[in-house]
Amino acid sequence: MEIKAEKCRVVMLVYPLQGHINPMLQLANILYSKGISIIIAYPSDFNPLNPSNHPEFTYLPLKAADVCGLEITNVVDGVGGIIGFTAVLNKIYKEPFEKSVQELMENDNENEGKRGKIRCIIYDVFMYFAQSVADQFKIPGISLRTSCAATILGITATHNPGCNLPVHVPIECLLQVPELQALELDNIAKHLKKTIPKLSYEIKAEITTAFNKSTAIIVNTVGFLEWAAINKAQEYFKASIYPIGPFHKYAENPTNSNSVLKEDTGCIAWLNQHPPRSVLYVSFGSLASMSEKDLLETALGLAQSNQPFLWVVRPRMILGGRDWAEILPSDVIEKINEMGLVVGWAPQRQVLGHSSIGGFWTHCGWNSTIEGICEGLPMICRPFFGDQFWNVKYISKVWKIGMELEGEIERENVERIVREVMVGEEGGEMRKRALELKDEVELCYKEGGTTYTYINQLVDLITSF
Ligand code: UDX
Repeated sequence: MEIKAEKCRVVMLVYPLQGHINPMLQLANILYSKGISIIIAYPSDFNPLNPSNHPEFTYLPLKAADVCGLEITNVVDGVGGIIGFTAVLNKIYKEPFEKSVQELMENDNENEGKRGKIRCIIYDVFMYFAQSVADQFKIPGISLRTSCAATILGITATHNPGCNLPVHVPIECLLQVPELQALELDNIAKHLKKTIPKLSYEIKAEITTAFNKSTAIIVNTVGFLEWAAINKAQEYFKASIYPIGPFHKYAENPTNSNSVLKEDTGCIAWLNQHPPRSVLYVSFGSLASMSEKDLLETALGLAQSNQPFLWVVRPRMILGGRDWAEILPSDVIEKINEMGLVVGWAPQRQVLGHSSIGGFWTHCGWNSTIEGICEGLPMICRPFFGDQFWNVKYISKVWKIGMELEGEIERENVERIVREVMVGEEGGEMRKRALELKDEVELCYKEGGTTYTYINQLVDLITSF
């Protein structure tokens, strides 16, 4: 890859949950591949990074004076936990981050910029306080949205009228865009009004303010997948939007792990024993949790489907805290072991790229969505919270590469949808479309593609600061 940016350093601030750590470090890989020196700032009190995974970067661990009683194990089952977590992180890490950036800048002055000066701060927009730190030191702030571009609009469109937002996109305006109609934003807005707490509106206002003040907005999406949303967002925000996904395909070594949980790599040997495109991979990401009843119905449906499957059941994923092997009756466990394998955490990108995988049952987290698309996999979609309700509509209604498992989880429905997606007639069209989409995405990150071009433009922007 062309080295464009020697003697150029950037600070990148991580939001410490798995679905955010991965894209930030993947983005760091991309910029590093262009010659930019990377300083990774991360909260060291929650899911601390392991610098030996990426010794090519410099690390800036941030320590909070007081973690306000927060524990990472409480940040489960999405929205409730994440909102409080985000609010506290933004409070407790501002000061340590300010101090660290100040020291870096002072060092720069002492060294007369020999190592290249700090050009900008790139921050996960969930760490919105970073924009005010960038403003304070008069360097550009660039926000990263780790989910789809449509959520940039969604964050402002589903606001509370009581909140004073610097940018407000009326939901009616989005409903006029045909590609966005399929996302059923009005339903999402109604649902959110009923379910999310006041604090989340305050956070949305902070995030919108950060987007509004940032010099550029980076999104881990691919232009053609979301032009309608990207163009609409561009009408409202003055910062240029850079859709430079899929991050993980551009510069990452697929065996390079950023996992917080220990990966069970033994599952690769198990996959090796299966014919091409025969195994269903089942994973609900890093935060979603399910009831014991849903676990049982899922297990029975998978076993009855007669399709081999690899299923990730994280420690503490089941509400109530019991382990899956304690909950399921022994005859069900026996059935599971006949057809499938259950692991606590998988090397997901390696698994999805394995030739034996033929389908992906996903919670529709954005990273999983993008990773599944890149491997040409048809999907079974079961969203749990937040942006997953947007992503599911993209997958099933816009790109038509998956089916939503709606209603209660019942073994018969699970069995039916698994068969349909893996070997069914209706699923055939979806399987074909998924492979076509993979090829289309590949063109985007190859020379001349939109991602390729936007990455070069982004590097030009950073080096111009
Ligand atoms: C959540 C939201 O759902 C997501 O949309 C948002 O952008 C980030 O926060 P999460 O539940 O973690 O994310 O899901 P996802 O976005 O799919 O990220 C999970 C990451 O963990 C993926 O990169 C996936 O490859 C990885 N993973 C998951 C593993 O490495 N092993 C596993 O067993 C499961």
